[in-house]
This record gives sequence, C-alpha cells and structure tokens, in this order.
Amino acid sequence: YPPERIRNFSIIAHIDHGKSTLADRLLELTGVISKTGKNKQVLDKLKVERERGITVKAQSASMFYEHNGQKYLINLIDTPGHVDFSYEVSRSLAACQGTILLVDAAQGIQAQTVANFYLAFGEGLEVIPILNKVDLPTAEPERTAKQIESAFEIEANTVLHVSAKSGLGIDHVLPSVIEKIPPPNGSIDKPFKALLFDTWYDKYVGVISLMAIKDGSVKKGDRIVSMYSNTKYEVAEVGIMHPEPMATTSLQVGQVGYITCNMRSVSEAHVGDTFYKEKEPVEALPGFVPAKSMVFSGVFPIDADEFDRLDESIQKLTLNDSSVSVHKETSAALGQGWRLGFLGTLHMDVFRQRLEEEYNANVLITAPTVPYQVKYRDGSTTFIRTPADFPGAGTMQDFVECTMEPYVSATLIFPEQYLGPMLDLCTTHRGEIQNHTFIDESRVMVKCRLPMADIVTDFFDKLKSRSQGFGSFDYEEGGYDTSDLVKMEVLLNGEPVDALAAVMHRSNVVNTGREMARRLKEVIRRQLFDINIQTAANGKVVARETVKQLRKNVTARCYGGDVTRKMKLLNKQKEGKKRMKKFGKVELPQEAFLTIMAKS
Ligand code: GTP
Repeated sequence: YPPERIRNFSIIAHIDHGKSTLADRLLELTGVISKTGKNKQVLDKLKVERERGITVKAQSASMFYEHNGQKYLINLIDTPGHVDFSYEVSRSLAACQGTILLVDAAQGIQAQTVANFYLAFGEGLEVIPILNKVDLPTAEPERTAKQIESAFEIEANTVLHVSAKSGLGIDHVLPSVIEKIPPPNGSIDKPFKALLFDTWYDKYVGVISLMAIKDGSVKKGDRIVSMYSNTKYEVAEVGIMHPEPMATTSLQVGQVGYITCNMRSVSEAHVGDTFYKEKEPVEALPGFVPAKSMVFSGVFPIDADEFDRLDESIQKLTLNDSSVSVHKETSAALGQGWRLGFLGTLHMDVFRQRLEEEYNANVLITAPTVPYQVKYRDGSTTFIRTPADFPGAGTMQDFVECTMEPYVSATLIFPEQYLGPMLDLCTTHRGEIQNHTFIDESRVMVKCRLPMADIVTDFFDKLKSRSQGFGSFDYEEGGYDTSDLVKMEVLLNGEPVDALAAVMHRSNVVNTGREMARRLKEVIRRQLFDINIQTAANGKVVARETVKQLRKNVTARCYGGDVTRKMKLLNKQKEGKKRMKKFGKVELPQEAFLTIMAKS
C-alpha cells in the first residue's frame, strides 16, 4: 500500500461515550473480527485483559476497506482515554493524521472531550466529530452538535450521527475517515525512521512495540537503534495487528505495525522514542520527554518477612508498565519498603489493585503526595517525593530560598445550576479561576489553575457529589509555582512518625492539622494504655487528641447468646489485624496513613 492509500486514525472520547463499541463495530464491518457468538468471546477476552491493564493496546488494529473502487489500509490506533496518560495520548496521536472525536449525544460534551480535542488539535490532526448513542431516547443530537460548534468551531451540520450499539450510521464512518483524513506523508526512499508509541510485554515473545513508520521500511534482521538510549537491536519480527499480531515481510512508510527485537523489558521501550537503522542516522521526531511521575506513595509490607516476595511482585508488575518509577525507601516507622511514582491517582489505584489481587500482596500504603521542589540559597534544587524529607523549620529558615509545588490546568464542565458550588470547590482547593464560558444555553465550562496536591485528594469525589454526578473534570500539567509550604508532623506519645508526615500549604495548617488528629483518633484502636496524638508544624503543636486506654475484652459488650454478632465483631477484628503496623507499642491501621487525604 502506497501512503496515499493508507489512513491512520484514532478515536478520542470521554469515558463511556462508546469508543470500544465503535472500534468493535468498525473491526466487524471490515471482517477483522466476525459478528458471530464466537467473536463475542474474542471481545470478552480482550475486555478482561484490558481490565487487567494489559491490552489497552488490543484495539489498535489494521483494517482493509474498499472505497470508490480503491483498496485502503486503515489503521485504528488506540489511545488511552484517561487524563493520567495524557503524555501517552499525545504520543499515540502523533502516530496518526486524524482522529474521530466521539461524543455521547445524550451526555453532550464532557471535560475529557475538550481536553482530548485540544491534544489532537495541538498535534495538527484532522478532527472528525461523531455523535454516538443517537438510538437512546434521551439523545439530543442537535443540541450536542451545537455544543461541538460552539466549543470547537466545527460546523454542526457536518457532524455524523451514529449508534455504535445498533450499527446505525456506521457505514459512513470509514468513508469519512478516507475523505477527510490526509494520508501519511513521508518517503519510501528516505532512511527508515519510526515513532514508538505503544509497548507491552508478552510472556512468549517478550517486548512488543507498536511503531508508526514515518520514512523508509524495516524488515526482519535489520539492525535498528533507539535514539533515546542509543541501544542497538536486531529486528526479530515485524507485522500488523489484525487484531492479533500477524507477521508481514516488512513494514513500510505510512504503516503502523509491531516490531519485536531483543529488548529485555518494557523499560527499554520508551513511548515517544525515535528508531532508525544503524549507520543511517535521522533527525529525532519532536517532543520526546520521558513520562513524569506526578503522584508518589510509599508501599510497605505488613509483614517484614514478605519483603522479598513483594519486591519480586513489584518487579513483575513494572515489567509491563514502565511508567511506574520505583525506589527503595526506609521508614523508621514502617521499615523497608518502596517509594513508587505514578502518572496520576487512577494509575496508582490500578497498580495497587493489581498488586493485591494478582500477587496477593498484603501492603500498607502511605497517602499519595506530589513532587515538591525546594530551592536552596546556594542555588541547588531538590525534589521531595517523601514528605518526611521536607525541610523542617530550622533548615527552612537558614538555608531555603523558596519552595514550589506542581500545578495543573483544569477544565470543568457542568450544568449551569452548579456554577456556585463548582466555583466554590475550585477556590477552596486554592484554585485560580481563569474563565467560565457557556458551551450551550445551560452548560458551563470553567478553566482553572489548581495545585496538583489538591486534586490528588478528594477533589474528584467532591466534584461528582456537589454536581450530583453531572460535572466532569480533566486536567493537564501546568508547571511549578512558588508556594508557602510547611511540613506537618504527627507525634504519637511524643515520637514523630515519619510515614505520617505531610507537606501542605501554610493556609491549610490549622484546619488540616486538627482534622488529621481527629481522624487519627477515630482510626487508631484503643490499646492497654493512653495514646497521645499530636500534629505539629514548624515545631509548634497544632492539635492534640487522646485515645483512651481500653478494657480488655472486645466481646464483653455483646449480649450473651447473639453468636452472629459476636462472630461479626471477631471477624472485624481479624480484618483490622490484616493491615496493622506496630509503631513502638502503638498499632497503626492502614486508614491512619490516609487521614491526610480527606479534607474537612
Ligand atoms: P471506556 O473504554 O471505559 O472509556 O469506555 P468507552 O468509551 O470505550 O465506551 P464503551 O464502548 O465501553 O461503551 C460504554 C457503554 O455505552 C457501554 O455500556 C455500551 O454498550 C454503551 N454504548 C456504546 N455505544 C452505544 C450506542 O450507540 N447506543 C447505546 N444505547 N449505548 C451505547
């Protein structure tokens, strides 16, 4: 296929707007997967895998399609949908020339629709807006098309209407892709140059990398070089995803396909990297920066004997996810563990869940924290990923020039009646409202700058509850700003507990300090002696609470004979035991480490 008969596109959408369903319909239409019950199984299998975080890739596939008597090779490139992965979204977008912007006609434009549109627009891609779910009785296609017109300046009457579920209008999608999206440019005569935009680990073949071939061609046996690491590899196999890997003799300019070579782990395959052939150097493709961890958490085994097993599990999990950063960490309170860095909180939750479910790990996780920067008067700067490492009052006064924290540029979309609560939500999280506009008669879009630290806590939950589920939210990184930060310490019976330390803005010290002490009192179970809890900032105590000593028998209060209640209580106690860590004589449950996350 010459480039003029190739189209590379992706589908971008807000979560649940029907991206996977549309992809499935297109793959059926082109016979890549069939419509019979058997295929359903294929899809189900993919879905399960996707839930386990493996196949976010399985939806990248090549299709053959005839249009106006010409045969086309059409590559659908999967993009991760969630904001945590926006760097990877923009890399996947760099592998295509156009994108379908899919919008649920019943829900209308949501924050992720807007964020994804701008990513695509920024990449210079042709955007084809499509309204999905027009079969729903609650669908409002005209209104949604108008929103698209006002938000993105795309004429409402050019917007396709489809139902990915029933198949209505699906026939128009690929013709539109062929007509509107330009073919890839590049030349077969130039030296081979490819963009690596996705990668995963297969236990039989090893690392598989998806690449977009920008110039030239590549085949088995070629020696290729990573621009980022300058490492040389020998190509073992090339092919296309159909939807499973299918070997071909070569991959040529304009195509998108997979390459396997002698890479040992996915940490060698950097999304965004440029590859070229040995002795045929090329210029790097633009914009490669390694994915940055924005949320850090400490992970510790409940039982120190499990350290080695946990170490192995973490290594295995990161084999397939090179965007998790791993450093060993030692805490006076919790012992040996790791400090893991994630792209965002969803990324962190998925990792934790897999660690617990797939590897049966019993771990204690500290509250998520963002990377702070401390600038010293001698001109040096350090990144703080562990709150306990943040300078205390003395060092601050004597050596520190300023402290900085990361910000995000956020987009919120919600019905007009929630304007008050939404603006309030932003300002109470130290947000700076940049503007608010109406995207139709009754929907508002707010742009605001927020400290990242404030959104890794409970911002999203509050947004959902205060807008009764109608608000949506997305963000992108917004750089660092100077900020008046303070370390909050927690002392139990006079001893500081490093793993409970937190960094916060000075304006939050009093409220959060009180709240932390109050919540700790709630979650620390009574023991055979009094436990004094203190929170302190800059060496000054902010709040005190006491957990009074305990009577000995948990079941003593149960009325005799009620066995089920007694069992329930005992089981509850057992549950509780699972996630306890002894600090001195005090037992700290998992919840204690998350007390700083929730704001009053
Ligand atoms: P994520 O992968 O979670 O981001 O979701 P997605 O955007 O891929 O959405 P998915 O295809 O999983 O669809 C979400 C839900 O919408 C599913 O329950 C689909 O069955 C449903 N859905 C998708 N398209 C249509 C449609 O055209 N009409 C109706 N009524 N439902 C649809």
